[in-house]
Amino acid sequence: MADIIRIAVDGPSGAGKSTIAKKVARAVGAEYVDTGAMYRAVGYKMRKLGAAPEDTDRIEAILNDTEIDFRSGVIYLDGEDVSGLIRTPEISEAASVYSALPPVRRKLVEIQRQIGHRRSVVMDGRDIGTNVFPDAQYKFYLTADAEERARRRWKELKEKGQDVELSQILQDIHQRDYADTHRELNPLMQAEDAELVDSTSMTIDEVVKTLVDKIQGGVSGRV
Ligand code: DC
Repeated sequence: MADIIRIAVDGPSGAGKSTIAKKVARAVGAEYVDTGAMYRAVGYKMRKLGAAPEDTDRIEAILNDTEIDFRSGVIYLDGEDVSGLIRTPEISEAASVYSALPPVRRKLVEIQRQIGHRRSVVMDGRDIGTNVFPDAQYKFYLTADAEERARRRWKELKEKGQDVELSQILQDIHQRDYADTHRELNPLMQAEDAELVDSTSMTIDEVVKTLVDKIQGGVSGRV
């Protein structure tokens, strides 16, 4: 690819965005960027330091002293690979809380824009097509029924040997959907010019093919 191409993949949690976005990035020769991992890394640090979300001065001071990067599939917090530390229920909760704070979003959006100005990216998140790159060449809004997202997550955890109630997962998904869509700043919503892809009854490969065909066929969500 000669020019820089930006592909935005937004949608609610559990829709399979990261799996899909990673495969699409490989297929089109772009770098995959997981913005959720960045919010998780910030949530991890704030939680570790015990910074209260309402203590704006402290949050800003910590952010000024924080380095976040996402390179080659790895999330770095202050130069350290924290990939193995950010996928717990506690950090999901912390990411949800701290990602609603304006200084946190300001900082991470700036980093995301810098990454996307340097190279072609498939960036997954909640506000990529609406806020980070409103001029992205391709925008997808990937979703699936809440029940199906819960079932997938339950299966994934079961395969990892974790026994969690499906009803509990569904409740968490509803809560996260509510928080993501009702946040004051950059809430999750489908960009007007984004292509809606409902993966409820699609396989991963079918979803990947749908996106890659659109990108390689040059059919953008933007008309
Ligand atoms: O996609 P994820 O579950 O790893 O995201 C973690 C949290 O970060 C989730 O609460 C939503 C939030 N997030 C966000 O507000 N904006 C993004 N671009 C990506 C994630």
